[in-house]
Amino acid sequence: MNAPQSPVRFPFSPRHAMKFGTPVPDMGTGPIPAESVTSAEYFEREREQVFKQAWLQVGRVEEIPNPGDYFTRELHVFKSNIVVVRGKDGVVRAFHNMCTHRGMALATEPCGNTRGFTCEFHGWGFGLDGSLQAVPAIESFPDFDKGKLGLKALACDTWNGFIFVHWNRQPAQSLADFMGQLAKDMDGFPFDKCQHIAHYTARVKANWKLCIDAFQEAYHATYLHRHAIPGAGDLELALPTSVRFYGPHRSVSCWLKTDIQPTPAEAIAYKHGSFGFVKADQGDSRGLNPSGDESWWFDINVFFPNFFCDLGRGWYFTYNFWPVSENDTIWNMNIYQVQADTAGDRLAQEFTRIVLRDTVYEDMSTMEYSQKAFDSGVITEQTIGDTEIAMRHQYWVADEWVNGRRP
Ligand code: FES
Ligand SMILES: [Fe+2]
Repeated sequence: MNAPQSPVRFPFSPRHAMKFGTPVPDMGTGPIPAESVTSAEYFEREREQVFKQAWLQVGRVEEIPNPGDYFTRELHVFKSNIVVVRGKDGVVRAFHNMCTHRGMALATEPCGNTRGFTCEFHGWGFGLDGSLQAVPAIESFPDFDKGKLGLKALACDTWNGFIFVHWNRQPAQSLADFMGQLAKDMDGFPFDKCQHIAHYTARVKANWKLCIDAFQEAYHATYLHRHAIPGAGDLELALPTSVRFYGPHRSVSCWLKTDIQPTPAEAIAYKHGSFGFVKADQGDSRGLNPSGDESWWFDINVFFPNFFCDLGRGWYFTYNFWPVSENDTIWNMNIYQVQADTAGDRLAQEFTRIVLRDTVYEDMSTMEYSQKAFDSGVITEQTIGDTEIAMRHQYWVADEWVNGRRP
């Protein structure tokens, strides 16, 4: 890593400049070859070298509060469906949702509560801890060893209520070590006080990194979101107020524009503002604004390879980008807010939920065009500017891992 060149690298306007809160890796400044978003062979290397080597976020503990509660996830990138279940001992575990007899799925519902998993095919029974407990006509199996035929586990751990899994049952790096300083900077945020208020999902015919790109640079916001986000048409919004790099992860703080003329609905939302468009001096600030930016709005926190946890005062939202193939991605968004204490708070929250929904619709509108352009071979590289530096970091880290240069 290089030392930061200066606290202010890109003077963008007299009023606004971007700074770095950490050293900046030497990522070069050239264009990004399209191959990394079009090549099936590159994607297979990402499957092995990136997704099977990283901790991946799959849910939250509130989804399975009681012993026996479980949910399943289709993880195409692992070519597996997994089941995440809370045991009788309260421990959250993850298993491949596959019977060790002949591979039938054990949990066939997306979620539920059970005392154990009984396979519908031949009736083998497994405990919540994955152990094989019952085998009809067990004497018909020569040299049978129950202890060797428990469910195939993934490593599973939690951070602030987020459930992560790892392909390797005993990963070289713990979840805490993997998440590193970025997670430490976010500690203190009141995740446990927030309620889940919305879930959006989409399947996009575009590479997973192209999908991610749209959510870690604000350059596009000034044009694409000029109608959906109040004040977004100001080009100053394009520049993050600060950027930090933490190994494979990164964090980008966004600028709050306060001198806008709100519509009547926006004015009510600002007045009660417990969610999106609030003044920088309102509300609990723990876990937020690590660089102490003055006109701070929210932090985009990106845990490599595919999990975003964006934090503002009184709210957060997450994205997961799950690749299916080199040009097919399932995108999930979940929005969480602190409990609304007043009708005005509730209205402000609903207003912001709708703004976010409209904004992500706009984001979704671009990706498949980009994928087609790169697939065509007409556009052979992505030309990116300094406002898009977080994107550059994503491609650079992915390429480092794909090529076995993982630090
Ligand atoms: S496949 Fe599950 S019991 Fe046979
Ligand atoms: Fe966007």
